[in-house]
Amino acid sequence: MGFSKRTSYIDISGIRRMFELSKGEDTINLGLGEPDFPIPPESKEAVRQALDADFTHYTPGKGIIELREGIASKLKRNGIFADPEEIIVTSGASEALEIVLLALVDSGDEVIIPDPGFVSYAPLTRIAGGVPVSFVVTEENSFEFDPAAIEEKITDRTKAIILNSPGNPTGALTRKKDVKEIAGLADDHGIFVISDEVYDEIIYMGEHYSIGRYTDLAITVNAFSKTYAMTGLRLGYLHAREDAVEEILKIHQYVQASTCSLSQAAAVAALKSGDGFTKEMVRTLAKRRDLIVGLLSEIEGVRCLKPGGAFYVFPNVSELGRSAELAMSILKNTGVIVTPGTAFGKKGEGYIRLSYATSEENIVEGVGRIAKYLNIYMGQR
Ligand SMILES: Cc1ncc(COP(=O)(O)O)c(C=O)c1O
Repeated sequence: MGFSKRTSYIDISGIRRMFELSKGEDTINLGLGEPDFPIPPESKEAVRQALDADFTHYTPGKGIIELREGIASKLKRNGIFADPEEIIVTSGASEALEIVLLALVDSGDEVIIPDPGFVSYAPLTRIAGGVPVSFVVTEENSFEFDPAAIEEKITDRTKAIILNSPGNPTGALTRKKDVKEIAGLADDHGIFVISDEVYDEIIYMGEHYSIGRYTDLAITVNAFSKTYAMTGLRLGYLHAREDAVEEILKIHQYVQASTCSLSQAAAVAALKSGDGFTKEMVRTLAKRRDLIVGLLSEIEGVRCLKPGGAFYVFPNVSELGRSAELAMSILKNTGVIVTPGTAFGKKGEGYIRLSYATSEENIVEGVGRIAKYLNIYMGQR
């Protein structure tokens, strides 16, 4: 008996590990990567109606046409002129990332990913047989992606670059000029750019620029998970040029067949309901962002940038100790879950990630407990 080498190359995510350690009733979770809002009422109603109408069977592999047309209109607002036939509806952005990598990467191929960056990029690259090659994202550059840092990592084996703006774990946006420059790199070297845009509508400062506006080597990945607080409905999508879609679809066909019919009905209704739901959510999140940045900045030894999007802060805690140990001692001594920066890559050392997709009350109580503990902790050193 034995398991594949593939499983030995990957590990349980640092985020899940923290959850598993937290058993206490008094725990405050600032580790969550999902909005704490119910889905839009229109989507709830659409699911009820779809169920009553027995809309509970397989759908076309790419997703129902009504949904793909809605997604094409949404992409158009981001400057991407997509034919619904160039869109595949997936089970969350997670499936989209996986099938894109499986379609692009051969054994030993390199995929350029951000460090710190979203936890799935390196493991999914490895599962596909590829080699993740990191480019550094620095606080000095406000955690913005630097085209020069990406260019340095391009080799003959590079198959793709993964972008993520607004980014997880930092909340930083990539500037228009840099998005354009990265598109130029993709064109010059003939490399696909996988652009993970799941936070594209959760923005407080600045503007989102889809790289799909500037190069047809862009593969845009997005989801309903964050924009409509639908993480549990598992619905995402990807857009790519026709030849890429044909290859990616082969993988989707065998791993997924089609996504959940009821979730697709929910997504159609969400898109039709307009942007009121997301705008209201972003207004609430903006207040929480200001609150958490203010509270963290008052703690000695903590330095916190104000993020432009998503719902995470990524404070520098390097004066206080190493990320993993600090996150663990915060959990043990205060019952507050935060995620060590190293869960997002080696360069996350010296940082922790806190999610503010939780109530103001939880933020005040959670950061209050951390502040009290760190003050004692600092005093003892
Ligand atoms: C940057 C990023 N990409 C993708 C995902 C996965 O999204 P989904 O839940 O739609 O699979 C997440 C979830 O946290 C994320 O933060």
